[in-house]
Amino acid sequence: MKKILFLGDIVGSHGCRFVKSVIYDIKKKHGIDIVIANGENSADGNGITPLSADMLFGFADIITTGNHCFRRKEVYPLLESSDRIIRPANYPEDAPGKGYCIYDMGSSQLAVINLIGVIYTDQADNPFSAADRILSELRGRLNAPNILVDLHAETTSEKKALGQYLAGRVTAVIGTHTHVQTADETILPGGTAYITDAGMCGAELSVLGVRSDIVIKRMCSHIPEKFTESDNPAFLNGVVTEYDEKTGKALSISRLVIR
Ligand SMILES: [Fe+2]
Ligand SMILES: [Fe+2]
Repeated sequence: MKKILFLGDIVGSHGCRFVKSVIYDIKKKHGIDIVIANGENSADGNGITPLSADMLFGFADIITTGNHCFRRKEVYPLLESSDRIIRPANYPEDAPGKGYCIYDMGSSQLAVINLIGVIYTDQADNPFSAADRILSELRGRLNAPNILVDLHAETTSEKKALGQYLAGRVTAVIGTHTHVQTADETILPGGTAYITDAGMCGAELSVLGVRSDIVIKRMCSHIPEKFTESDNPAFLNGVVTEYDEKTGKALSISRLVIR
């Protein structure tokens, strides 16, 4: 058996610091083998930078991203060189970085795939066919189908559909991007752990991690204003998934909220 802790979008240095302060206790309490974190908003002022990635690697084994992955140019060399940070696989082939990675856990390996939804997000290739393509690339490269998919998407329908499309073929499909944790965690037929959104790690009283007064002002006035992360007390949102590393089947998924 192995246990994965998946952390929802980590917002700014405030979110990074809070996770760092509680991660040891979580790992000990739940017996976590691997930590995967969505880090597309980890840099102050949005996106991900080498500095924020470094903070995340203080507690995460693998970093996934999403629509903000290319916002900061200084991270492109890291996206190219690191085999522990990935960006959506269904972005254009010549975009910096890679869409999946294989993490060696000694007794088994875990493949982590990042996909982006195409409804109300960026233009990208169809995530369903991208998933099919990667699963066939992975065939024969893993001892068992231990595969986690971070589906970074806006709509609940697209995530539900892709989760069920991949049911029985991967260990887990975990949604990210909305920064709001959903209460629909389940084991889909065939042994795939699923949740529509893991939530976020950052200021709880905020608008998706951003200072509420700025967002409200912008929405009222329609005048663009730079977003700044809120420094209100932070919380952690994530999920713990247990799976059988010999079969790749998920055994349980539970939501985690730490304040
Ligand atoms: Fe995000
Ligand atoms: Fe996002």
